[in-house]
Amino acid sequence: MADPVGSFRPTALVTGASRGIGAAVARRLAASGARVALLARGTAALDALVREIGHDAIPLTCDVRDPAMVARALSSLTEECGGPPDIIVNNAGSFFLASTEDTSVQAFGETLAVNLTAPFAVVHALLPAMRAVNAGHIVTIGSVADRMTFPGNAAYAASKYGLRALHEVMRAELRGSGVRVSLVSPGAVNTGLWDAVDPDNQPGFTARADMLTPEAVADAVLYVVTAPLELNVDEMRLSRT
Ligand SMILES: NC(=O)c1ccc[n+]([C@@H]2O[C@H](COP(=O)([O-])OP(=O)(O)OC[C@H]3O[C@@H](n4cnc5c(N)ncnc54)[C@H](OP(=O)(O)O)[C@@H]3O)[C@@H](O)[C@H]2O)c1
Repeated sequence: MADPVGSFRPTALVTGASRGIGAAVARRLAASGARVALLARGTAALDALVREIGHDAIPLTCDVRDPAMVARALSSLTEECGGPPDIIVNNAGSFFLASTEDTSVQAFGETLAVNLTAPFAVVHALLPAMRAVNAGHIVTIGSVADRMTFPGNAAYAASKYGLRALHEVMRAELRGSGVRVSLVSPGAVNTGLWDAVDPDNQPGFTARADMLTPEAVADAVLYVVTAPLELNVDEMRLSRT
């Protein structure tokens, strides 16, 4: 996507597009000329965003923990678009905060399923077609927690460290292929992800007013995917000025 306002009109798949960072990324890419496919479980939120963005946005209701559902959603997307999306933004994620001893094996597994296995499944399904055309861009939304550890982050940090490793392996494998891969890792962002924590009333957490906005993260994603084609932004780390 070297020229977002020119004749090239990329297609972009954004997972976790029903709210928060994913919705902001979808809006920003669409406003810059992309045809966006919005994937999440929340059908009503997706339909509302499709109405807001415009008629050619594509809603994909899908639980990323279900590999068969992911495969069906991506196959219908590829059919509708006549090929793989030009841009994948692997953004869907869940946040889980509990000490190691208070994290059940099930909760640990669920966090890995959404934050690590699902992005892998999306890439696994679409990468062969991207390779075939020697083009495309895989953007992974990481986190400050993919390089830093915090108490209570056993499941989340394990998933995000693993996700960064997946990104780095893909970068090593795809260098020179024409398929670009970028990791965008924000610090705290003011979204509904924090609702269960209520950070404004918890010592040790960043107050919402001091967090990044989803729109700032979306600007970073737009920057990454509109960089000249010979430039791969390997990793971008975002924090408040
Ligand atoms: N907020 C932060 O402080 C922060 C900081 C760094 C990185 N991040 C990362 O940024 C990404 C987005 O976070 P956010 O703050 O925007 O969170 P959010 O507001 O809670 O949104 C999460 C998105 O993921 C989707 N999702 C969750 N589970 C899903 C599932 N099983 N299947 C399909 N979609 C699912 C949700 O849609 P449905 O519920 O409709 O399915 C929603 O669209 C995550 O990867 C997160 O780890 C966030």
